[in-house]
Amino acid sequence: MIYLDHAATSYPKPPDVLRAVARCMRECGGNPGRGTHRLAMRAAETLYECRREAAEYFGAAGPERVAFTMNATYALNMAIKGAAGAGDHLLLDRMAHNSSARPVFALADAGASYDLAELSGDPERIREELEHKCRPQTRAVIVTHVPNVANREAPLAAIGAFCRRRGITLIVDAAQSAGSHPISVEKDGIDVLCVPGHKGLLGPQGCGMMILGERYAGGKTILEGGSGVRSEERGMPDSPPERYEAGTPPTPAVAGLLEGIRAVRRYGTERVLAHESALAAAAADALRALDGVRVREDAPGAIVLFEVEGMPSPAVGEELDRRGICVRAGLHCAPLAHRVLGTGKSGAVRASFGITNTERDARALADAVAEIAARHGR
Ligand SMILES: Cc1ncc(COP(=O)(O)O)c(C=O)c1O
Repeated sequence: MIYLDHAATSYPKPPDVLRAVARCMRECGGNPGRGTHRLAMRAAETLYECRREAAEYFGAAGPERVAFTMNATYALNMAIKGAAGAGDHLLLDRMAHNSSARPVFALADAGASYDLAELSGDPERIREELEHKCRPQTRAVIVTHVPNVANREAPLAAIGAFCRRRGITLIVDAAQSAGSHPISVEKDGIDVLCVPGHKGLLGPQGCGMMILGERYAGGKTILEGGSGVRSEERGMPDSPPERYEAGTPPTPAVAGLLEGIRAVRRYGTERVLAHESALAAAAADALRALDGVRVREDAPGAIVLFEVEGMPSPAVGEELDRRGICVRAGLHCAPLAHRVLGTGKSGAVRASFGITNTERDARALADAVAEIAARHGR
């Protein structure tokens, strides 16, 4: 089997991650923050250690700025819905995934307004776009650092500087960049960085993070419940991370995530992107040379987006799966981005590379697509 769907979730996970999950369930089985017995304390230490590692890796002011969520979607919902309400205006990246687009649409249905903006590419052009589209009522700019169907990148530091000057909350969707692109919450001027644990950070499914900038005062909560502290109060505590962590956290997944982040740091973030980009470029070159195959993405990065003439993209995905190659086809929960790319009707096929892939995998993809195009294509 050849796995080329790392943009959906990374697989396989490093052995240290698997061991950490099992060890946590065996040895740290208490409920963190909900007791002072040894098992609860061990679980709390696990969470703290991961907060510390993530804060250091993402340039946050301290471990308390890291709140665990279920995934990136949950973090984005908390950040976006916490930042604005009726009468407010939001600026949304036109390459947005539904995990940031749908919370914005939900706010718009409840009386807010929004505009789409082109936020990747040249920093000066983006500054002009921001000047042009931000209004006095703009509460948040929501940026997709790297989209899930293209290899472009948003210049976070330039957008962060603009948002700081204007007092606008900057929310960053780093679902496709965390673990492969350097990000610094403080240096880039980010208020809320939303990351999944299960993609480039190599952790298990079931946890993500909201990493908060030092100046971020905190928005409204969208989930309330037990926090282990200030139980006598009606609302969630004001201070992070407890404000954003209602209920029992996913401690075993966090234990795995801690080892995932360590594995990425040992390997080197820049090396991850260089490795993935080289394989994707090799696959894209080979696919471009095939009759009846159209590659939709030219920029360097971990993704190859392509179509086979005369075949719906899901059919190509199924044929690849029959040949033991896992990719994802269709709209990838990103209809806005597909519209920008000209593939908005039925999407395309996406192969996404990870650090465990090799040149052989890139060649195998091209060989399989060549056979599928010759046999089933137009
Ligand atoms: C760009 C982007 N944002 C957000 C998400 C949502 O991540 P999660 O599945 O962890 O909620 C994804 C998932 O594919 C994504 O690609």
